Amino acid sequence: MFDLSGKCAVVTGGGRGIGKGISCALAAAGANVVLSGRAAAPLNETAADIAAAGGRAVAAPGDITDLTVPGMLVERALEEFGRMDIWINNAGSAAREDVGALLDLDEAQWDRVVNLNMKSAFFAAQAAAKAMSRRDGGSIINITSRSGSHPNPMTGHYGAAKAGMENLTMTMAVEWGHMGIRVNAVAPGVVVTEETMAVLSGDRSQKQIDTVPMGRLGRPHDIASACVYLASDEAEWVSGITLPVNGGSRIAIGYLAYLRRVAKSGRN
Ligand SMILES: NC(=O)c1ccc[n+]([C@@H]2O[C@H](COP(=O)([O-])OP(=O)(O)OC[C@H]3O[C@@H](n4cnc5c(N)ncnc54)[C@H](OP(=O)(O)O)[C@@H]3O)[C@@H](O)[C@H]2O)c1
Repeated sequence: MFDLSGKCAVVTGGGRGIGKGISCALAAAGANVVLSGRAAAPLNETAADIAAAGGRAVAAPGDITDLTVPGMLVERALEEFGRMDIWINNAGSAAREDVGALLDLDEAQWDRVVNLNMKSAFFAAQAAAKAMSRRDGGSIINITSRSGSHPNPMTGHYGAAKAGMENLTMTMAVEWGHMGIRVNAVAPGVVVTEETMAVLSGDRSQKQIDTVPMGRLGRPHDIASACVYLASDEAEWVSGITLPVNGGSRIAIGYLAYLRRVAKSGRN
């Protein structure tokens, strides 16, 4: 089950957080992995971890919002491993300086968040699909978020970009299916990473856990397991879906907190 031996995967944002978990899990299932992200050090560390566990990975640094980077990653995969079968569009976030209420967001904040989470993810998927269409197809997985299907006070542009990727996932699956390309999305709930823990200290972490029927926050491995399945031949009749991986949680706590704050103190 879920054997990716001989396949090659590209993982954007593959050096840390959820992307690192996905990269390690794909390698453990047998895939060769091209790891990308802006900073080289985490990519090299993850490549070394994968090698120590008996897998193969190479670091290919690049800013995915530079639209020449996806093509470079395809070339690197072909040079190193002779093929490119799996593309994980994982790089994404809303940086602290880009958080704000809709009435206050400026164009630069909008562009940074939407360019990273939707525009660059779309063009990366397009580059992957062009390469896959020249072979036997492949599997593209867009990492979205629960934010894509909920209101997101203070990060409305991020939620809109993730919703956009979920919609594009369906259209990509339709337009590219005849070439043997499957496209799916995985929508994580709150997953423990260095970034999330910096925001969710103490009490805030417990409040999140209280909304999760499975009684804990997510781990990168939870998201990675879904990706291994969707990348594998066992999922060969699965395309165009968004798979929520969130411990059964149906409550996005951010908007409750926002409403409480407004009730107490007025706007924002
Ligand atoms: N953690 C959660 O609770 C959660 C929940 C829902 C959805 N997600 C989604 O899951 C994905 C991974 O999130 P995470 O929490 O693991 O984030 P993270 O810890 O902040 O890692 C983000 C990754 O993306 C890379 N990245 C950021 N901007 C980039 C750029 N311009 N070009 C290339 N790489 C870039 C980062 O590497 P560099 O900084 O070195 O470039 C890093 O490897 C994201 O799409 C996020 O929206 C996360």
